[in-house]
Amino acid sequence: MAESTNDGNEVEISRDRLADLLNEDLSREYQAIIAYVVYSQVLSGAEYMDIATQLELHAKQELAHALIISRQIDYLGKMPAVTPKPVRTSKNPTDMLRYDLDNENETIRNYRDRIRQCEALGEYAMAEQIRQILMQEQDHQIDLATALGVEVPDLSLGPKERTLGKRR
Ligand SMILES: [Fe+2]
Ligand SMILES: [Fe+2]
Repeated sequence: MAESTNDGNEVEISRDRLADLLNEDLSREYQAIIAYVVYSQVLSGAEYMDIATQLELHAKQELAHALIISRQIDYLGKMPAVTPKPVRTSKNPTDMLRYDLDNENETIRNYRDRIRQCEALGEYAMAEQIRQILMQEQDHQIDLATALGVEVPDLSLGPKERTLGKRR
């Protein structure tokens, strides 16, 4: 079967493969929960107070995402994964925020693919659930890019993708 691509073309996918990919997404959600739980508490200094509060909200939203993704995996007849992707840590606040931004970028790329794959399988309700998650991930990306003082990375490679900012 064809792998998913970012080119916006129709993708060949099976329900089995979709469940495996959703389990990868779930591992990324666990990673995000852990990172945001820790980073929101260890980021200190007056200049990081606002972003620390935002990261605490992100942690709760990532948990909600994990629950939604788990439900989809169960619906597809598979067992939800229990292992997070590795979480990087640093004593440097900028590094921490940079790791979070990298992870959000990766998550956004994957969910954009996942929506196309769900639709290719006729799983429109699932695609809609993932769209809702994607909207929050893009907000997380914007929060982090703003805190870092960088432009929001443009991850759009497909012709139909909405761009959020210019490529750096
Ligand atoms: Fe998430
Ligand atoms: Fe996120």
